[in-house]
Amino acid sequence: MDWQTHQEANRAGTELGGTYLYFDTAAAAPPVIAAVEAASEYLWKTTRTGPYLPSLRAEIYAQLDEIRGRAASFLGATPEELAFTRNGTESISLVARGLRFEPGDEIIVPDTEMLSNIAIWRMVATESGATIVTVAGGPTGLLDPEAVRAAITERTKLLTFAALSNVTGAVQPVVELCEVAAAAGVLVHVNAAQAIGMMPVGFDVWPCDFISACTRKGLRAIEGSGVLAVREQHLDALTPTLAGWWNAGLGDGEDVTFMHAARKLEAGSPNVPAILALGAAIAVAEGLGVDAIHTRVRELTEYAATRLREIQGTQIYGPERDADRLGILPFNIDGCDPAKLTLALERRGIIIEAGHFMATPILAAYGVERMARVSLHYFNTIDEIDQLVAAIDAERGINA
Ligand SMILES: Cc1ncc(COP(=O)(O)O)c(C=O)c1O
Repeated sequence: MDWQTHQEANRAGTELGGTYLYFDTAAAAPPVIAAVEAASEYLWKTTRTGPYLPSLRAEIYAQLDEIRGRAASFLGATPEELAFTRNGTESISLVARGLRFEPGDEIIVPDTEMLSNIAIWRMVATESGATIVTVAGGPTGLLDPEAVRAAITERTKLLTFAALSNVTGAVQPVVELCEVAAAAGVLVHVNAAQAIGMMPVGFDVWPCDFISACTRKGLRAIEGSGVLAVREQHLDALTPTLAGWWNAGLGDGEDVTFMHAARKLEAGSPNVPAILALGAAIAVAEGLGVDAIHTRVRELTEYAATRLREIQGTQIYGPERDADRLGILPFNIDGCDPAKLTLALERRGIIIEAGHFMATPILAAYGVERMARVSLHYFNTIDEIDQLVAAIDAERGINA
């Protein structure tokens, strides 16, 4: 892959790679230009002709069908197994709310998770009388399949975890975790919010039951889009949280009917601009090749980790082996306030993030309240990483 050529084409007209160096893909990546164009072209059409020009509607709905197929195959799923959502949090919530939990059921939510993969499970547990069981990832942030196996009881109904942690950057042993759960008849929900677009994800690589994802990060679509894949055999078990036109029909009596497809989880007018952008972003990722992206991000991650460690007083959190992390490098430097460091870097046009990343239990385990986080994608370069490290080194005296 000629990254340089792709870079130049995709940064034309932007300030990225010049005025700004962007290292915050874990929050949201700059969308690919094709995604922004797809959304804006549609919005312009709606203002020129009105959104319900019959031929435009027909064309758009055909495009949505085509993108559903593309998104599904990107996730190793069928079009019937794929739902468009507004974000990763909604995808997770549609699974949690859609399933039925009985009093005494157990849901395994490891301590490696961030708010969006904790809050809704706690809510449904409280409402149903189910129990949340925690499994510790430990300082590396990596889940041990044996620890999960030990936590499973005959009441365990579901295991949920993120394939790639937004906090530690740990890449979980997803296949092994799924196999341990499946052997005990436990459902598995994998949160691919950070993983999608960074590494191969999907039902064809993970033997899990549900995959939720946010598509404004590694996939570089626009804000307001997400996806959810539901294995065909679970479609009937999942009750839609929302109902109305687009996903529901009225039965003979008092009942409401839904189609046998994940689309039943989408209610009301679809978020057309975001879905069109999603289709364009997937096409770009497919054009580059997910395997090639994965290899590139892995190389950049290892280089950035090595260079960051050269800065005196730096501690990088998460997996000990760089091969167990992808793209995300959380760190602190002795005597340096991560929030002040982030602001100082912004003044230099270098964008990183500092905070608790909505994962206070993980930070508590490290005994820190905040960390700085560099997160990479294939569009970053070795030269950008060198500039970042030089800038951090120059600012590391910024103290608490
Ligand atoms: C690991 C993880 N899960 C879930 C989410 C939620 O995704 P969204 O922001 O699309 O709701 C995020 C990001 O914000 C995340 O990093």
